[in-house]
Amino acid sequence: MNLNQAIWEKGDFTRIAASMRESGEALVGTLGVKKGLKILDLGCGDGTTALPSAKLGGDVLGVDIARNLVEAGNRRAREFGLANLRFQHGDATNLSELPDKTFDLVISIFGAMFAPKPFDVAKEMVRVTRTGGRIVMGNWIPNDPTLVAQILKISAAYTPPPPAGFISPMTWGVEANVIERFASAGVPQDGITFSRDTYRFNFDGSPSGLVDLFLSYYGPTMNAFEEAAKNGRADALKKELYALFESQNTAARKDVTSIPATFLRVTVAVN
Ligand SMILES: C[S@@+](CC[C@H](N)C(=O)[O-])C[C@H]1O[C@@H](n2cnc3c(N)ncnc32)[C@H](O)[C@@H]1O
Repeated sequence: MNLNQAIWEKGDFTRIAASMRESGEALVGTLGVKKGLKILDLGCGDGTTALPSAKLGGDVLGVDIARNLVEAGNRRAREFGLANLRFQHGDATNLSELPDKTFDLVISIFGAMFAPKPFDVAKEMVRVTRTGGRIVMGNWIPNDPTLVAQILKISAAYTPPPPAGFISPMTWGVEANVIERFASAGVPQDGITFSRDTYRFNFDGSPSGLVDLFLSYYGPTMNAFEEAAKNGRADALKKELYALFESQNTAARKDVTSIPATFLRVTVAVN
């Protein structure tokens, strides 16, 4: 069994993605998407960035390892009447079904970072981008004080250590690693730019309500919760997450949630 696939097919990431739509749309608004631009959204989920890219006229293919999310994405494309948006199953570590130099823009917002074999992932992203094209990644940053890095840090304390050789997805949030991975795919350092950006998790309910969604539907947190339960620590994990989400909530009302999270935005020029 492919564990990477299993973790994302567990639960239902669409329930979390619903809180990320505004930021996805805002990010896409900065990418200069024009009618007919050929776009690959890699690790696209149910289309938080793929769908607004298609609304702006891009010719968009979403690729994701989770079959339930591919299905959900295609359903959303139909609901929005977007014939220029389709989703298919695929693995960022090996995109052999996609020809070389196909896309003007490869987007991967908190997507490809979760695939194993980061050097293969960088190579594949570069290979399918046409000369003169761009890759834009959004990667969470290890040890960052904002939401996502803290969820992962807290969860890690309740789970057994990963197997030897495991490369944390969070290593994609370190500039030196990104440079090394794209260098091995033939991209010089001066073709890569970095900036810090912010996503907001907006939820029409209390912060603890959003935690409950993570515990019930977000694969990595579900796994941590199951592991914690085995040691009688499920309540302790829940309590830590409630405290985290409450302390980071910036909404004026307590029964509504809006939490910012910082990420590393990476832009790669492929020449
Ligand atoms: C945190 S979600 C982000 C989804 C989407 N980009 C968004 O912004 O809503 C991570 C996504 O990466 C996908 N993913 C993880 N490993 C992958 C791989 N090896 N190949 C393709 N997609 C992968 C997961 O299935 C999941 O949809």
